[in-house]
Amino acid sequence: MVELPPLYDDLTFLSPLSEQRAAGLVAHLAEARPGTLLDIGCGWGEFLLRAAEAAPGSRGLGVDLEPQRLEEARRRAASRGLGERVSFEARDGREITGSFDAVVCIGASHVWGLPVEAAQPLDYAAALTALRGLVRPGGRLIYGEAVWSAAPTPAATAALSGRDDEYLQLDALTALASTHGFTVESVEEASREEWDAFEAGFVRRLERWLEGHQGDHPDADDVRTQLGEQRERYLNGYRGVLGLAYFTLVAD
Ligand SMILES: C[S@@+](CC[C@H](N)C(=O)[O-])C[C@H]1O[C@@H](n2cnc3c(N)ncnc32)[C@H](O)[C@@H]1O
Repeated sequence: MVELPPLYDDLTFLSPLSEQRAAGLVAHLAEARPGTLLDIGCGWGEFLLRAAEAAPGSRGLGVDLEPQRLEEARRRAASRGLGERVSFEARDGREITGSFDAVVCIGASHVWGLPVEAAQPLDYAAALTALRGLVRPGGRLIYGEAVWSAAPTPAATAALSGRDDEYLQLDALTALASTHGFTVESVEEASREEWDAFEAGFVRRLERWLEGHQGDHPDADDVRTQLGEQRERYLNGYRGVLGLAYFTLVAD
């Protein structure tokens, strides 16, 4: 098993999300002056930490299952003086209960469905139902999730789960949010530039590994293959077809 640098060395978020869009979403959460924040599938915590910084006095909880990401999240919290207000716990998002003023869930709907490897349609409804239970009435949810940006092509589905019904299109997901106890305040989609930057950051650790190792290293061929396959999957597969929608929702 090749040991690669962590994704947070090359990506700000584990999602196609620009600085500008992140700032807008954070501002939307903060303007409601939340006292409690929850991020399910928080990764290395960058979004939650920015939200906590923008909402002075708030307390935040981030949960994820990846110990290395959580360690990085705690390190970031401490270095920004947020260690007392924001905690990161290794917990399954399905176990979280309570009622929060603001909830964030970006790219983590699969927490409430089958694992991605099961290659089943993404269970947005299960995620929205669970998330509604975690937001107090009037509270806000930032919900980020994959959608089809265009009708799925054979090349795109071959690079993903192999099925046309893995994701919904934006209009259908917007309607689903409305029927799951939320008022939709805004709907945005990641741009092609955000996707290109995300994909470039995603493979950067493979490029850096190759730069740091001799071509005759026993793992070099494997890493080169991984890099080529991921670029191919994106550029000739799901680029422009797979989208990422960002919703700002208010709980009814
Ligand atoms: C696509 S990443 C998104 C991370 C983060 N929200 C972001 O946008 O940077 C999904 C995250 O969900 C986490 N995750 C997966 N299953 C989980 C579960 N059952 N409970 C909590 N977190 C989970 C993964 O470890 C991963 O960090």
